[in-house]
Amino acid sequence: MDRASELLFYVNGRKVIEKNVDPETMLLPYLRKKLRLTGTKYGCGGGGCGACTVMISRYNPITKRIRHHPANACLIPICSLYGAAITTVEGIGSTHTRIHPVQERIAKCHGTQCGFCTPGMVMSIYTLLRNHPEPTLDQLTDALGGNLCRCTGYRPIIDACKTFCKTSGCCQSKENGVCCLDQGINGLPEFEEGSKTSPKLFAEEEFLPLDPTQELIFPPELMIMAEKQSQRTRVFGSERMMWFSPVTLKELLEFKFKYPQAPVVMGNTSVGPEVKFKGVFHPVIISPDRIEELSVVNHTYNGLTLGAGLSLAQVKDILADVVQKLPEEKTQMYRALLKHLGTLAGSQIRNMASLGGHIISRHPDSDLNPILAVGNCTLNLLSKEGKRQIPLNEQFLSKCPNADLKPQEILVSVNIPYSRKWEFVSAFRQAQRQENALAIVNSGMRVFFGEGVGIIRELCISYGGVGSTAICAKNSCQELIGRRWNEEMLDIACRLVLDEVSLLGSAPGGKVEFKRTLIISFLFKFYLEVSQILKKMDPVHYPSLADKYESALEDLHSKHHCSTLKYQNIGPKQHPQDPIGHPIMHLSGVKHATGEAIYCDDMPPVDQELFLTFVTSSRAHAKIVSIDLSEALSMPGVVDIMTAEHLSDVNSFCFFTEAEKFLATDKVFCVGQLVCAVLADSEVQAKRAAKRVKIVYQDLEPLILTIEESIQHNSFFEPERKLEYGNVDEAFKVVDQILEGEIHMGGQEHFYMETQSMLVVPKGEDQEMDVYVSTQFPKYIQDIVASTLKLPANKVMCHVRRVGGAFGGKVLKTGIIAAVTAFAANKHGRAVRCALERGEDMLITGGRHPYLGKYKAGFMNDGRILALDMEHYSNAGASLDESLFVRMINMYKEIDQTPYKQEINAKNLTQCWRECMAMSSYSLRKVVVEKFNAENYWKKKGLAMVPLKYPVGLGSRAAGQAAALVHIYLDGSVLVTHGGIEMGQGVHTKMIQVVSRELRMPMSNVHLRGTSTETVPNANISGGSVVADLNGLAVKDACQTLLKRLEPIISKNPKGTWKDWAQTAFDESISLSAVGYFRGYESDMNWEKGEGHPFEYFVYGAACSEVEIDCLTGDHKNIRTDIVMDVGCSINPAIDIGQIEGAFIQGMGLYTIEELNYSPQGILHTRGPDQYKIPAICDMPTELHIALLPPSQNSNTLYSSKGLGESGVFLGCSVFFAIHDAVSAARQERGLHGPLSLNSPLTPEKIRMACEDKFTKMIPRDEPGSYVPWNVPI
Ligand SMILES: Cc1cc2nc3c(=O)[nH]c(=O)nc-3n(C[C@H](O)[C@H](O)[C@H](O)COP(=O)(O)OP(=O)(O)OC[C@H]3O[C@@H](n4cnc5c(N)ncnc54)[C@H](O)[C@@H]3O)c2cc1C
Ligand code: FES
Ligand code: FES
Repeated sequence: MDRASELLFYVNGRKVIEKNVDPETMLLPYLRKKLRLTGTKYGCGGGGCGACTVMISRYNPITKRIRHHPANACLIPICSLYGAAITTVEGIGSTHTRIHPVQERIAKCHGTQCGFCTPGMVMSIYTLLRNHPEPTLDQLTDALGGNLCRCTGYRPIIDACKTFCKTSGCCQSKENGVCCLDQGINGLPEFEEGSKTSPKLFAEEEFLPLDPTQELIFPPELMIMAEKQSQRTRVFGSERMMWFSPVTLKELLEFKFKYPQAPVVMGNTSVGPEVKFKGVFHPVIISPDRIEELSVVNHTYNGLTLGAGLSLAQVKDILADVVQKLPEEKTQMYRALLKHLGTLAGSQIRNMASLGGHIISRHPDSDLNPILAVGNCTLNLLSKEGKRQIPLNEQFLSKCPNADLKPQEILVSVNIPYSRKWEFVSAFRQAQRQENALAIVNSGMRVFFGEGVGIIRELCISYGGVGSTAICAKNSCQELIGRRWNEEMLDIACRLVLDEVSLLGSAPGGKVEFKRTLIISFLFKFYLEVSQILKKMDPVHYPSLADKYESALEDLHSKHHCSTLKYQNIGPKQHPQDPIGHPIMHLSGVKHATGEAIYCDDMPPVDQELFLTFVTSSRAHAKIVSIDLSEALSMPGVVDIMTAEHLSDVNSFCFFTEAEKFLATDKVFCVGQLVCAVLADSEVQAKRAAKRVKIVYQDLEPLILTIEESIQHNSFFEPERKLEYGNVDEAFKVVDQILEGEIHMGGQEHFYMETQSMLVVPKGEDQEMDVYVSTQFPKYIQDIVASTLKLPANKVMCHVRRVGGAFGGKVLKTGIIAAVTAFAANKHGRAVRCALERGEDMLITGGRHPYLGKYKAGFMNDGRILALDMEHYSNAGASLDESLFVRMINMYKEIDQTPYKQEINAKNLTQCWRECMAMSSYSLRKVVVEKFNAENYWKKKGLAMVPLKYPVGLGSRAAGQAAALVHIYLDGSVLVTHGGIEMGQGVHTKMIQVVSRELRMPMSNVHLRGTSTETVPNANISGGSVVADLNGLAVKDACQTLLKRLEPIISKNPKGTWKDWAQTAFDESISLSAVGYFRGYESDMNWEKGEGHPFEYFVYGAACSEVEIDCLTGDHKNIRTDIVMDVGCSINPAIDIGQIEGAFIQGMGLYTIEELNYSPQGILHTRGPDQYKIPAICDMPTELHIALLPPSQNSNTLYSSKGLGESGVFLGCSVFFAIHDAVSAARQERGLHGPLSLNSPLTPEKIRMACEDKFTKMIPRDEPGSYVPWNVPI
């Protein structure tokens, strides 16, 4: 065997030769650590977030074509890249050379906030454009389906992408010759008279044109290599693993014979996550990526044969082509497969994953196997012993030894037969999120009738998500053969299937009753679909479906998004150079898009740097009996393992009232609590050693996980807070009616895209320590580190250039992690890096708290609420149908009082409400929604509008003080720094706008490097929506001090430049540096009396959302949202609108799909984007309209602006209430008239189960307590 052991590929046009390649290395760490291309980001490591997207290009010497496709670098073994050209975000453009149009447009269209997702977005779009220079909107949304963004809400990203489409600027839905902008989606006028939209927030005419001839060419060397094909077997090896890449099919079979247990790795999207997350280890890997026989596409007389090595994206294209060309009756299977291929994972995974890998993996929630299993498909196998064909049936899927591949066999191809006349195939799925989410239940169904007689000849039904593999309802189908396709058959079928496909109450994944309901709901959908086609084929013999039942069959999801924005105009008197009020692009926007923006973990390694990883508790409440470190300490590369004993008297820090321990001592109080820290030469070594730390626990009682359990055990954190206004007991005596109930709101993971990361560097002199960390609160990090190291604060400097999203999640836990990391760095006198993996991050850091609200409301018959008694409980973890009219009459009046007796002027609230009513055409649309609901039984629409009063303030003046430092240099340039952290909210951009206005100089003259405790000491936490407010006032103060000093010089030489004035000031010994200060907003709150003035101002707003739900599956689609917001006077409408819509989408996630699941033992199940679903591009409202109220004055704030970071989150609940409205409509129609209490998040499960019908009644229910559920509601 002629062997090659040198790996050769190209990255960004440069040849890379790797002589000692380790087969365990994935492309992402290789790019980031070895090639120092840090533009490609780590967000999850499991293919679920898209932050690591790169383009892979390969030349096929047979077709002579180059295939470009997007891929997740985190799942690509570098050994699989021989002969490939990889393009990363750095390879397509940079500020040093020329930025690429994709990079330019995403930045200039305000598609970046924290920027951490941006390189991945850029690469997904770039790759699409390499294949389709003028894509359709469908192609665009498809290309971005595998990329998550937590900040922007996606609208500006779509806007940027649309500029590449042939027709841009609208939904492109010209189905009826009318587009969304011509007429609202419901055929209603968009806005009331006089309410015009503003121009776009970017100038399209200034964009660089897309010129495909300017792209990097495919390396000719790789083409020649591929053409010559005097190929050699590739063998790569390390001490632990061998990688074999054979040249021929024969050789592949030899390898498989020799190493029967070795996986045949194609896309590595199944093997990769198993290795990474489940600890599976394969000493040998076989990679047949060059075997042509695995890529066959044959049209035979009875169907298609598809090579096992084809990617799912290729299969999708092939099938799409076939269904175009062949008559519909032949392509039933292909259509069903195509339906699921459209939503299966994201574009990156579809391009990596192979058909063979998908089939052979037999994942319980595979989308394709249940369809293939009902379609009489066969698998063509090959081994050294010869060929064999086996059916892809239930036995194969359940891995029965006599129906499975033998270990030496490989799958060469799959035969998928054509369908016949009178044969129908359908596919169904319901997931937590419509796209890029594994199905909760999916299904493939096929029926074959005898010619024209409507008698079932063959019936096959298969389900995924309900067992350890796809399950076929074989016996039920058998029993139904010979029956007519009618309601009686359906009824029997449902009962039979429920009986056969039974699910235990304790089944993994939970949602058992929902799954049972879906099983028969899908069956009903299939029944309707087939009935409808039969009716079309033979109207005489088959009855029509009732009109209102047809709604069960329509698709909810649309890919055509459109949006309008309305913002404030610049006053005619404003100086043209003054940038305040202009939609200035995020200062780092272009650097985000080119990958040049440096985040903490992008910093180059420091000499002799170590990596720290944590071992965390696997128990929720237990005594630590023993910790055995011996094996872990003996692992290669391990330098130290620190426990609480090592930290001894510095193992805690007091932030609130009680000191919190860093590393657990004798007891643990939650799963994920830090127990010890492993320090090693590399991340891989540290992680391997951490797995060998042996901890023995003894469980303790009680185990308190839920709010109900803490009420039962009276386990609360102090202090309890109470507010009283008026005499509630008296009020209850006079009201007409009283309503009591409870509402539960689930927690939310912050899901910042950049996980917790830091680098602590001992300076080697005077015990100085530099801490580079992704945090919202550098001062706190400084304090906790200084205290841990027993150093004064002046020896510890904390630096934050930017943060890749935080949302309140990078404060206290970050401090604890930093303290331990700094302790390690100090102990060993070496730099220490710590960057959490996504799963660790979710486990360790907690998130937004779940709430339980118990309410008792007393109201009059005219809808006025006179008395309200509410108890709120928050699950803080282990350490510290209302009608529109009712909403309106109970709203704050112009001058009013809050429950804590703070006076407010709510005029703008009323104005937001009225504008939102008008802009959304609420009343007209309400009628349309009601009409729709009357005509459609299985789909319902809901419309809801919510007002917003969001208090802004920090509870004390001291908490709001801020400082800034402004230097003017002798060349006239300015450096500004302040205490706020840039985490995507654009604070640095706004600060430069402030300097520009105050010093009357162009923004380009002003620079901002980052935040550091060295320049601005004692800065407060960046949070509470006020970072720009407070720091802006400090920056303004500094500028005004400077201006005052320089005014005489300027007025003497008014035509001079800043260079002239600075030089004169220097010559006259006038300081060119000033500190600015803002004392904070006045604030007081007396909790004893329950009154005070805790807030400086209120942000007002209103949102109206319309949704459509599928009553049979619980799916929902946000059809349209209108938001009106009072922002005072906007400093930067692009940033402000970005904050509003980003927060709205995050809120929508909170109230609908983001669901944290915990085991009854308190273990978090949802530890990554594969299990925890934040909104993706498919969740964007089809129509989104945002309007800012006209400017209003607010004397105390920065240029009368208002802070907007958080308020929009609440508006997400308009979607919750719209769903509530739709569910109520369904229930009314089904005769269920009582009050409806729905908890948040309103997931597909809750929606479906609330739309009670004959199917929900049919399913078996388990007695509570008769089983141990997979998850408990926390
Ligand atoms: C982020 C993410 C999202 C996903 N979302 C979905 C989803 O929504 N719906 C869904 O259905 N699936 C989903 N998947 C699963 C995905 O479809 C499978 O992982 C994929 O199809 C496996 O293909 P692969 O080529 O990557 O397999 P690999 O990981 O390369 O191999 C998988 C297995 O197949 C075997 N194998 C591969 N080819 C052959 C062959 N020719 N002969 C014999 N054995 C072979 C290997 O030995 C190995 O055991 C998702 C996966 C990820 C990572
Ligand atoms: S890091 Fe690769 S997809 Fe998330
Ligand atoms: S800008 Fe997308 S995650 Fe922050």
